[in-house]
Amino acid sequence: MRHEEQVRVIEGLLRHLDEGTNVDAGHQLRNPVSAYTCGDLAAREWESFFQGHPQVLGLSADLPEPRSFFTSGDLGKPILCTRADDGEFRAFLNVCRHRGTIVEDAERGTRKNFQCPFHAWTYDHQGALVGVPKESHFGKVDRECNSLVSLPAVERYGLLWVSPEPGATFDLDALLGDLAPELESWGLERCVRHGGVRYDHPMNWKLAIDTFGETYHFNALHRNTLANDFYGNVQMYDTYGRNHRMALCMKSIDDLRTKPRDEWNVLQGALPVYYLFPNVQLIVGGPGPTLVRVYPDGPDANQSFSQVGFYIFPEILENEGARAFAERAGMTVEAMLVMRQQGFATIIQAEDYVAAASGHRGAQSGALEHVTFGRNEPALHHYHNTYREALGMEPLEVVEAAQDL
Ligand code: FES
Ligand SMILES: [Fe+2]
Repeated sequence: MRHEEQVRVIEGLLRHLDEGTNVDAGHQLRNPVSAYTCGDLAAREWESFFQGHPQVLGLSADLPEPRSFFTSGDLGKPILCTRADDGEFRAFLNVCRHRGTIVEDAERGTRKNFQCPFHAWTYDHQGALVGVPKESHFGKVDRECNSLVSLPAVERYGLLWVSPEPGATFDLDALLGDLAPELESWGLERCVRHGGVRYDHPMNWKLAIDTFGETYHFNALHRNTLANDFYGNVQMYDTYGRNHRMALCMKSIDDLRTKPRDEWNVLQGALPVYYLFPNVQLIVGGPGPTLVRVYPDGPDANQSFSQVGFYIFPEILENEGARAFAERAGMTVEAMLVMRQQGFATIIQAEDYVAAASGHRGAQSGALEHVTFGRNEPALHHYHNTYREALGMEPLEVVEAAQDL
């Protein structure tokens, strides 16, 4: 993030704190509860956003070296992502050209080649068919025509993007717009993967996204956890096309009040949370980024899951301050990082997603026709109106102001 932008964000947060204000969308919006329960809408979202739109499947750190790979079934089809000896990121349908068996079953690792478990046809990291056992018995196999089916794949700004549609094209710069230079500024490509976790949740996928869309709930839902370190209901908010950035207000922001502005580092007082259309939250802060990818379970309105990946900036392991802090707590930096991410994951799983799944049951109950997004929840306004626009739907209904408080 450019330094002048860091200063603008911190100044904005301090102003909200001092004046007792928050971001203000200017009005409330009504979202019909059918947005969370309608099977037809879920089918359209699945087709448009999860089959027909580029997807972030990880960070560069998920393919840390030549010959590393990972697999994904998150988009309802088996995908194999590789980094070949040439360092290039590639993606394929993880489907053997012989009889269709899934070629690579492991979640991640390193391999020289990928060998199908059924009859041992073998493919390299560029998807080329490089081995067919007993070809003299089987018959000649045209290598050229029997590579793994390739998917469009781009590695940019430390993020791995894949289109689930073979032959599709996508323009990342157009998708990211003004956000691209800021993403680039974090140097995410230098991160190291530090574990991950999957949560399955009985709720619409958009309810999981919604939990990341405001800090109005911090002092209630997270009163014993995040509220210890964050000022709830105080944030800065900016949009970048279909994407957005929230800056959450950490209590440590008060330390910046006595520092000259040219020494301000936004991460000392704020936690940037990026939403990347259609389903990604990228949280940049602390010892490194956290990537949360939220998926519907196919075209099912009522079931979804989150893939959470933890990454660290490698310098944190060598950082003197971090080491001293860990030693005072009687642990290694490594152990402290594991504890921290377990805590983070627990808050999402045990607090946010519990409340969100409860909201799904409320939506299914028939008690409500709509839910309401407040003036202080502009990320929810933007997110819901953005996906509606992408599906050719009308914007959400504005609630006429009854009376200003
Ligand atoms: S199905 Fe893969 S080698 Fe036969
Ligand atoms: Fe939360």
